[in-house]
Amino acid sequence: MNIRLIPAVMENPSLLSLIVALLGFLSPCLTRLTPRVSFPKGSPGRHLTRFSSHDVSNSTTLLLSDDGDMLYVGARDAVLALDVSHKDSIILRSKLDWSPSEKDLEQCSMKGKKMVDCPNFIRVLQFLNTTHIYACGTFAFSPRCTYINSETLTMSLKPDEGRGRCPYDPYQRNTAIIVDGELYTGTVADYRGNRPVISRHLSEGRRVDLKLDDTLGWLEDPTFISSSFIPDEEKIYFFFSEVGREYDFIDKFIVSRVSQICMSDVGGQRTLQRRWTTFAKAQLLCQADSELPYNVIQDMDILPPAEGAPSDDTLFYGIFTSQWSVNSGRSAVCSFRLTDIKSVFSGNYKVLNRDTLQWSTRVQEKVANPGECGLHNASDNALRFVKENFLADDSVRPVGRSLTMVSAEHNYSHLTVQRVQAANNRDYTVLFLLTESGYLHKAVLLPTGAHIIEEVQVFEQPQPIKSLKLSVAKGLIYVGTSEGLVRVPTANCSFYWTCPQCVLARDPFCGWDPASRACVEASNHQTSLGQDIDKGNVEEACNSVSFTHRARFGLPAASCPAGELVSVSLNEVVRLQCPAASQLSQQLWERPNSRLSSDLYLHLDDGSLSFVATPITVGHYLCLSTENGYQQTMAIYHVKQKSSPIAQSPTNYTRPQAPPIPTTKAVARPGPGLLPSLGTLPKRTSTRQGETEPTLSSRDTQVTTGQRGRNTSQWTEEPGHKEAGFRDGELLMSARGPCYLKELVVVSVLLVLCLSLLITMLLYVIRKRCRSRTAPHAGTPTRDSDRRTPVEQEALRGNQFQSKRNGQALHSGQASGFVCNGALTGSNGHLPNTPI
Ligand SMILES: *[C@@H]1O[C@H](CO)[C@@H](O)[C@H](O)[C@H]1NC(C)=O
Ligand SMILES: *[C@@H]1O[C@H](CO)[C@@H](O)[C@H](O)[C@H]1NC(C)=O
Ligand SMILES: *[C@@H]1O[C@H](CO)[C@@H](O)[C@H](O)[C@H]1NC(C)=O
Ligand SMILES: *[C@@H]1O[C@H](CO)[C@@H](O)[C@H](O)[C@H]1NC(C)=O
Repeated sequence: MNIRLIPAVMENPSLLSLIVALLGFLSPCLTRLTPRVSFPKGSPGRHLTRFSSHDVSNSTTLLLSDDGDMLYVGARDAVLALDVSHKDSIILRSKLDWSPSEKDLEQCSMKGKKMVDCPNFIRVLQFLNTTHIYACGTFAFSPRCTYINSETLTMSLKPDEGRGRCPYDPYQRNTAIIVDGELYTGTVADYRGNRPVISRHLSEGRRVDLKLDDTLGWLEDPTFISSSFIPDEEKIYFFFSEVGREYDFIDKFIVSRVSQICMSDVGGQRTLQRRWTTFAKAQLLCQADSELPYNVIQDMDILPPAEGAPSDDTLFYGIFTSQWSVNSGRSAVCSFRLTDIKSVFSGNYKVLNRDTLQWSTRVQEKVANPGECGLHNASDNALRFVKENFLADDSVRPVGRSLTMVSAEHNYSHLTVQRVQAANNRDYTVLFLLTESGYLHKAVLLPTGAHIIEEVQVFEQPQPIKSLKLSVAKGLIYVGTSEGLVRVPTANCSFYWTCPQCVLARDPFCGWDPASRACVEASNHQTSLGQDIDKGNVEEACNSVSFTHRARFGLPAASCPAGELVSVSLNEVVRLQCPAASQLSQQLWERPNSRLSSDLYLHLDDGSLSFVATPITVGHYLCLSTENGYQQTMAIYHVKQKSSPIAQSPTNYTRPQAPPIPTTKAVARPGPGLLPSLGTLPKRTSTRQGETEPTLSSRDTQVTTGQRGRNTSQWTEEPGHKEAGFRDGELLMSARGPCYLKELVVVSVLLVLCLSLLITMLLYVIRKRCRSRTAPHAGTPTRDSDRRTPVEQEALRGNQFQSKRNGQALHSGQASGFVCNGALTGSNGHLPNTPI
C-alpha cells in the first residue's frame, strides 16, 4: 500500500479525509527521540551566561560581528552592543535608544492599536559596510530605518522611510539581508498587512530599487521566514509559507516555498519596469512517503558546502510543522540541496489562466526561462512570459526524499546547523533546535537517524519572541528571548568524566584522551581520541570490556565484596536506588542465584527496587545499567538483617529521610563507570514499614488488577457487545412486530466485526512495516561477550517489540548462567518482573 499524498491524492479531495483519518492511526510509528542527557536550568554541567536588563526586552534580532566578539541586539526601542568576548560575562558596551515620540505613540493608539504594540520593535539589523549597521523598526506602526555607526552606536543620518523594508505590525514576520550594500527584504508593505513584497532597496547609480509585480499575485498571504545569499550563484533565496492557490480544492492549504531572485536584476525596459525579471518560486516539500506533509515552514538555516565542495552541495535545513491537527505538536526537520532547488527552477513552470486565476500544468512553448538571470533587456514577449510563469511545476523534495528527523513530543521553533569534524576526520552535521518549551536540543545526524546528544534548558516560561545565533568560531550559541539573552556553549566535554560516558554521548565535539584521561574537545586535539559517533561502541573506542561486578557474584557470600551495606529488620520495606547513567540507559537489577520475582519485588519508575525484607530477600543486589550494548555496574548493595537493634552500626544505618526521588527530567549524572568508590553513589533508602507499605501494596495491586482487568475485558467485551446488540434488536422487533430485523442486525454485526478485523489486520501490517523502517537509533550490533545484550537492546527500544521478542530475550537471560530476571520495559519505563 503506497500512499503518495501530494500531488497524486491531492487531486482527489474525497480521498484526503480518509487518508487523514488513516494517518491518525499510523502516527505512533514515529521514533521517540529522547535527549540522552538533560541539563535543567541552573545545572552545573552546563554553564549559561545570561544578559538581561530591566529596560531591555523583546530581543528579536541578533547580529554577530565577524570576529564573534560583539553581538548587536535589536530589542524594543533600543539597539544594544554587547561585548561577548569574555568567558564568564556579557557586558553591555553601548545602547542606542530609538523610540517613537509621544506624538507618534499618540497617533499609533489613535489608529486603534494597543499601546504595548506601539513601541519601536527592531526587525532589521544588518551590516551595511565596515563602519555602519542598517536597522529598521516598526516605530509605532510607521516603520523607519536608520544608519548606525557600529563603533559608537550612534545614528548617523536622518531616519529613512521603512515602508517595504520592515513590517508595520510587530507580530508579522519578515526577513532581510544586505549584500553589497543593497538591502533585500521580504515583508508586508502596508499598514493593514495585505501587501506582501520581496524588494530591493538602497540601490545606487544605474541599479534601481526593485519590487514584485503585484498584478498577478506573485505572493499569496505569505509568512516570511528567512533569506540566504549564495555567492557563486549571485542569487538570493527567500523561504516562506503561503496559501497554495494551485491546490484550490482545499480551503487555505498552506505550502512552504523557496523563491529566488538574481542580484544582477535591474528590471525590464518597458515590461516589468522596476520589477523583478528573475523572480520564481517553487514548493518545498517536507514529507515522508506515507505521511501528511509537514507543510508549514517555521525556520530555515543554511549549511554552506564543506571546504572544496561545489556550492551546489549547499544544504538548507528547515523546521516544518503541519497544518493538520493529527500532526499538531509535532515538528519535522527536512534538508534541501541547492542543486535540487536549482533544477526545479530550471524545469517547467505552471501556467496561470489570467481570467479564471486557475493553475494548470499545460505544456506550452517556452519563450524564456523563468528564473534565469540576465533577462532585463529581453524582449517584451519574453518578459511577459516570465511575468506569468513564476511557479515551478515541480516541487523541491528533501534530501534522500525523506525527513531528516521528526519529533512527536517536541515542538521545535528555531534551528541552527553546523558541520563538525569528528576525531576520525569525518564530517557530521549537528543541529541545534530550540523547543517551544525552552530547551535547546543538540542532535547529530547519523546514517541511522538523528541522535539527540543533550538538551539544555534556556528559559522556563514560553517566550513569544525567540532568535538563535550560532558562533561557529567561538563554539557558542546565543538565544534571544522576550526576557533577554542567553549564551550556551555548544559542548562541555568535561561533563563526561569516564571514557564510556564520553563515547556513549556520541558527541562529535568530544573525544576521550587516554593520555590525560579526560573527555576533551575534539577540534583542538591532534592525538587520536576515543570516539565512535556512528555506533557509540564503548568496547572499541575505550579499548575496554563491559565492566560489571557480576563475576564477583559467583563467589560465596562470605567473600563477596559487600558494596554498600544495608541493615534492615525483617518485614521492613527496603528501597534500593539505582542512578541512571543517562536518559537512554536501562537499569536492571540482579541477585546471585535467584531471580527477582514480581511477587516479591517492585521495580519503580525511577529504576529503584523495592521489597519487604524477609529471610529470602536479604542478600546481594546488583544494579546494572545498559546503554547501547554497554553494561556497567551502577550500584552494589548487601542487604543484611540486623543482628539486634543495639548491635547496629551507625554508619550503616539508613538515612532517616528518603532523598527526593529524582524525576526523569533530572540531570542524568551517572555514577562513576568503574565504581572507584561506592561512596559517591546515591544512597539506598529504607523506610519504616508503616510509612511505605501502603504505597507498595497499593502499587502492587494496581499492577495485578490492571493486568487481570485487561485480560478479562478482552474476553468479556465482545460477547457483551453482541448481547447488547441482540437485546436492542429484540426490543425493536417486539415494538414493530415480526420482520427481518433480527437477521439484519445479526448480519450487520457480523459484517462490522469482519470489517474491523480486516482493518485491524491491515493497520497492524502497515504499522509493522512502518516500525521496521523507523527502527530507533539505539540499534547497534550485539556483543558476543555479553549475552544479555539483546535483552537490554529490546529494553532500550521501549516496549514496542516486547510481545514478539519476549521469549527470546528470556532465553538469553537464562543462558548467561547467572539467573536473573530477564526484565523488559513496561510501558512506563520501569522494569516489571517477568517470571521465567
Ligand atoms: C562542564 O561540566 C563540568 C562538570 O559538570 C562543570 O564543572 C563545568 O562547570 C562545566 N563547564 C561549563 C562551561 O559548563
Ligand atoms: C514583547 O515581550 C513581551 C514579554 O516580555 C510579550 O508579551 C510581547 O508580546 C512581546 N511583543 C512583541 C511585539 O512580540
Ligand atoms: C558606510 O555607509 C555609510 C552610510 O551610507 C557611509 O556614511 C559610510 O561612509 C560608509 N563607510 C564606508 C567605509 O564605506
Ligand atoms: C543588456 O543591457 C545592458 C545594459 O543594461 C547592455 O550593456 C547589454 O549590452 C545588453 N545586452 C544585450 C544582449 O542586449
